[in-house]
Amino acid sequence: PVLVVDYGAQYAQLIARRVREADTFSEIVPSTMPVADMLAKDPSAVILSGGPSSVYADGAPQVDPALFEAGVPVLGICYGFQAMAKALGGEVAQTGQREYGGTPADLPDSASSTLLKDQPATQNVWMSHGDSVSQAPEGFRVTASTPGTPVAAFEDDERSLYGVQWHPEVKHSEHGQDVLVNFLRHGAKIDPDWTTGNVIEEQVARIRAQIGDGKVICALSGGVDSAVAGALVQRAVGDQLTCVFVDHGLLRAGEAEQVEKDFVAATGVKLHVVDAVQRFADALDGVSDPEQKRKIIGREFIRVFEQAARDVVAKEGSDEVKFLVQGTLYPDVVESGGGTGAATIKSHHNVGGLPDDLAFELVEPLRALFKDEVRAVGVQLGLPEAMVYRQPFPGPGLAIRIVGAVTPQRLEILRAADAIARAELTAAGLDRDIWQCPVVLLADVRSVGVQGDGRTYGHPVVLRPVSSEDAMTADWTRLPYDVLAKISTRITNEVPEVNRVVLDVTSKPPGTIEWE
Ligand code: XMP
Repeated sequence: PVLVVDYGAQYAQLIARRVREADTFSEIVPSTMPVADMLAKDPSAVILSGGPSSVYADGAPQVDPALFEAGVPVLGICYGFQAMAKALGGEVAQTGQREYGGTPADLPDSASSTLLKDQPATQNVWMSHGDSVSQAPEGFRVTASTPGTPVAAFEDDERSLYGVQWHPEVKHSEHGQDVLVNFLRHGAKIDPDWTTGNVIEEQVARIRAQIGDGKVICALSGGVDSAVAGALVQRAVGDQLTCVFVDHGLLRAGEAEQVEKDFVAATGVKLHVVDAVQRFADALDGVSDPEQKRKIIGREFIRVFEQAARDVVAKEGSDEVKFLVQGTLYPDVVESGGGTGAATIKSHHNVGGLPDDLAFELVEPLRALFKDEVRAVGVQLGLPEAMVYRQPFPGPGLAIRIVGAVTPQRLEILRAADAIARAELTAAGLDRDIWQCPVVLLADVRSVGVQGDGRTYGHPVVLRPVSSEDAMTADWTRLPYDVLAKISTRITNEVPEVNRVVLDVTSKPPGTIEWE
């Protein structure tokens, strides 16, 4: 793999993703990992990420110079670039001058550079640093500069060591991806082999090796991750897999059918459906506190699932079900201890997920994958696009989008309004521009309206369109007025209980994406 050493900013994951986009497998490791352990992973290259520290700060992570003697190609980025310069005998100065944002860079002889090969001699790069490299280490050639940073990139082809002060992984750096690709292909001479087809083949082989001829179950939530994980396991072991779908009645319009019909048609999977709609409705009766709702839904889900697992065992005969499929993704793995430094806030335990102490061995075929890779795998496995490109949807479902107590009638109202909003966003071609757009029913609020000749006294719904990379932070999406108008007109015309549509224009923070 290409190892991305995490110096504690949010950049390591982004770098790892960009390397994957260049069809090369990458893995994030903490900066505290000893060089010997890194080398034990037989890396084809190492990338040192940016980080929030100054190399002069107390306890700032350093690079062990042994890394540069191992014959492994290394690329240092931002903090990694400075740490590299310092470790190799160059100089890093505290200029007291911050360079932040889009910055014009000069690349006078990019034609002869390995890292900057064939790039325009001037271009905009994204900077975010306080210290600067003032003197490149011996043996390095300086290949770029900016007005504030004379040494903005360097390389030593002899030892395959490279560095850039800017952030090639962010889209604001005009030719950022080319820098990474040049490093991987020409600096480190790695052939691209991380493709969706290979990922599927490799995972199928692994799953077969793990499961053998055992029996396995998978809980489908209607979401992308569990669907793709289930489809992969189905591809690997066929009928040894039974998928369980707990219909808790809190999904959006058409989503239960998507699981029960489209998913089964696409994969041929054996599906065990549990109709738990009434049970969840009873358990949620009269509850309006958000945390209480989440607890109840989590608890009921586990109980229903455990019973379903027993039913599957009974139905399948004497063979114990030994394995459980989980749709854990790589960012979850990194956030729960893979990385270091940066305070990563895990915003939610997977309510609607399963506890760790179930008596199953876990099968996690998506553990190494990022979300976009999961989607690509899903498409290649033939899953319906509507399922693969679905917006994130919370485990507790529509229950946490009804402010107030959940009732079957309120669920119906919200489902109808949500379906209209989704249909219009899709029709306007905006699905891939927004991260998600919760529609929230303010069930305990009423306001006066007028419709036809009559006065109405109905409920508002809130549209909450957000743009985000990872749901940790988000901004409200500036949707075109005509799309908003269409959604508003349709909802107030077609959903009689709703007489007002309002727009949430709060970023996260301070607002969360969901209202509860
Ligand atoms: P918030 O509302 O905290 O949401 O900004 C961040 C992201 O997480 C989703 N979300 C959940 N997902 N179980 C989940 O599986 C939950 O309980 C849950 N609560 C929120 C939310 O839709 C958004 O994408």
